[in-house]
Amino acid sequence: MVYTKEQMEKNDAIRNEYKKYLNIGHEFIYLSEQDCIDTGTTDMEIIEATEQGMIDYSKKILEMPAKIGIHPMPDCLMHAMPANLPDQYACGIKWGSNFPTNKTMYPDVIPTNCQIIYNDALTGHMMALMDASWITKVRTPATALVGIKHAANLKAKTFGMIGCGIQGKSNVRMVENILKELETIYVYDMYESAMDALIAEDQPQVKARIVKAESLEQLVRSCDVIVSALPIVHSPNPPVKAEWVHKGQTIVCLDCHTVYEDAVYKSADKYYVDSIEQHELLIGYGYYPHGLPKITGETGELAAGTVPKRESDDELIVVNNVGMASEDMMCAKIIFERALKMGLGVKLPLWTSTKGLL
Ligand SMILES: NC(=O)c1ccc[n+]([C@@H]2O[C@H](COP(=O)([O-])OP(=O)(O)OC[C@H]3O[C@@H](n4cnc5c(N)ncnc54)[C@H](O)[C@@H]3O)[C@@H](O)[C@H]2O)c1
Repeated sequence: MVYTKEQMEKNDAIRNEYKKYLNIGHEFIYLSEQDCIDTGTTDMEIIEATEQGMIDYSKKILEMPAKIGIHPMPDCLMHAMPANLPDQYACGIKWGSNFPTNKTMYPDVIPTNCQIIYNDALTGHMMALMDASWITKVRTPATALVGIKHAANLKAKTFGMIGCGIQGKSNVRMVENILKELETIYVYDMYESAMDALIAEDQPQVKARIVKAESLEQLVRSCDVIVSALPIVHSPNPPVKAEWVHKGQTIVCLDCHTVYEDAVYKSADKYYVDSIEQHELLIGYGYYPHGLPKITGETGELAAGTVPKRESDDELIVVNNVGMASEDMMCAKIIFERALKMGLGVKLPLWTSTKGLL
């Protein structure tokens, strides 16, 4: 995908702004997780940037091949996620991993860690290398919230979070940005300590009362909107029975088809995925042994209003978002631009010496 003349002019002007702070092509900035947080980027800014990344993807006005992956440990993944959004002048690649095995084998390091190389799309040079663990932590709930914003009943009173790890905590912390009338948030995890840690961290930040579900069945039966973020496994043994799910619910999966019996997806009135191409690739990797149900549209199309959305309060709706580089690059752009202006991070020389090449 090449830039139009209009995009070239617009983005060249933005590049000239960047050049006031960074000698592009000769240096880059390194941003740690704390630097990203210190930019002060708000949840709503992340949600809006993520939504734009999903819409640009579904309009196909960007270049974003389906992510490819390697799997060095059992049920672990490392994904390469490049994207170029010409309209947004946002370009780069995320290298992200999830190793649930760290919990037991290497407990001194977290299961998920990611980096982004953020590039100048006009010259190809790296402008920033940033830790993307925080971006992943907030943009993933943002993808769920884009689905919820357009598919759920926004007057929902109950929300359920299945999995209380990094994603569980940030989903609960961010949910009231969209579901403003929540009264009760049920959480469930196989470890009591994970639920306790979520409540300790999130309760001071949300209005609704967070309670530990007595069982997964209680959570599923009780909640209007449910998000799940359990480890994605190759051969899932889904713990949620189809009879626990009921009409009117909005179910968001951030973990493919790990949690619900296949009948739930097949009986949904509407079923959205963030990227049809990506999920078809995942079938090839063996993640959907029962295949996918009929897809109503992509989540970005839902957000753009180009496919049918919820038509009645009685519909069961499933949104399956596996995550896309376009969302990461939109968030990386905000972080990069703020960090530049705020003087955050460390400037480092690019290792490609022009002297040696010219
Ligand atoms: N869709 C996306 O864009 C996206 C982005 C990042 C992460 N993820 C996925 O989200 C999932 C969670 O990531 P995380 O960083 O929060 O991991 P995490 O390890 O921090 O949290 C996972 C939680 O699930 C709990 N758990 C594991 N098996 C369980 C079971 N059978 N029943 C109940 N609880 C169980 C664990 O105790 C843990 O608290 C992973 O599958 C990851 O790949 C998706």
